Amino acid sequence: MMKPFKAGIIGLGSVLPDKKLTNSQLESIVETSDEWIVKRTGIRERHILDDGVPLANLAAKAAVKAIEDAGLQPGDIELILGTTVTPDYLTPSLACMVQKEIGAKNAAAFDVSAACTGFIYAIQTGRQFIENGTYKNILIVSAEALSRATDFTDRKTCVLFGDGAGAVVLSQVDDNTGVDSAIIGAVGDDGDVLTIPFLYTSETDIANRNEGKKQVIWMDGSEVFTFASRIMADATKRVLNSADVEMDQIQYVFPHQANMRILQNAAKRLNVSMDKIYSNLEYTGNISSASIPVCLDEASKKGLLKKGDKIVLVAFGGGLTYGSALLTWSKEA
Ligand code: UT7
Repeated sequence: MMKPFKAGIIGLGSVLPDKKLTNSQLESIVETSDEWIVKRTGIRERHILDDGVPLANLAAKAAVKAIEDAGLQPGDIELILGTTVTPDYLTPSLACMVQKEIGAKNAAAFDVSAACTGFIYAIQTGRQFIENGTYKNILIVSAEALSRATDFTDRKTCVLFGDGAGAVVLSQVDDNTGVDSAIIGAVGDDGDVLTIPFLYTSETDIANRNEGKKQVIWMDGSEVFTFASRIMADATKRVLNSADVEMDQIQYVFPHQANMRILQNAAKRLNVSMDKIYSNLEYTGNISSASIPVCLDEASKKGLLKKGDKIVLVAFGGGLTYGSALLTWSKEA
């Protein structure tokens, strides 16, 4: 059934912190090598937010760019959806802190918690408000400072993650572009393979971490790897099937950027060339929920996306969560 309104991305913005952490710098922090990291992950460097800078500050910079790109004012935004696993505070939420920094006084604001899948969950949440006519302009801001939740004595995780922020304005569009379909899902039964404890820490959490490291990422890398490779292909197929669209109609797939080998596995399962799989993880590392909006902003600025192109966004992450979205691109190149 045709929805009365559709939700499309009409503005994008992103920011990566200036400070970089290269593989060779990591070689002097843990027992690792540039060769191992590049071969096993595809990552060469990541960006690190300076100590003392709130994450909300980085997020607000990306948000302002997205609102300007959309040709709107902060006062036009009616809802802010924030996504992060590394908030400055549990309350106020990232979304409320961004509201304050950018002066979006007319907006409601809350965070969506779905780890690396946060951006897809926020797209699926935001589009409901637009499709049912409640709001016309929604800001989604995804920002992460994973370096603050990383144990730099654990070589299994510390080489993977970085910091960054991406934002989009999701608005009511009337040209039949925008979100055609989206799927979100969770496998809570397997949530213990990727954790960041906060106010509660179980015996297992303590046993899994180096002494004295509580609120840091722990991950069973190979379990997450297997889940990710399977679910990325499955979720992409499901969202295409739901809209009766074939893979060869897709211009680009924008996957969550965790590991080049996961992207290659998923491409193989989908029987598509890697040319169709957008990737920037070589110089960002894994920036959790910020990875897809940062990629979209880059691709849009490079002129790779033109109005009417069909694209798929697909992510997986802690929870475990997963999600995919099929969009007909709404912006002129
Ligand atoms: O956003 C969602 C969250 N995360 C992910 O999607 C990550 C999913 N998982 C992965 O990307 C991969 O599993 C990792 C990159 C984390 C690990 O790669 P792997 O090929 O699965 O390596 P492994 O864990 O099986 O370890 C192989 C070897 C081990 O040595 P031994 O036991 O065979 O002697 C590790 O100790 O590589 C060793 N190793 C390292 N060596 C050098 C693990 N990390 C490193 C390192 N440098 N940084």
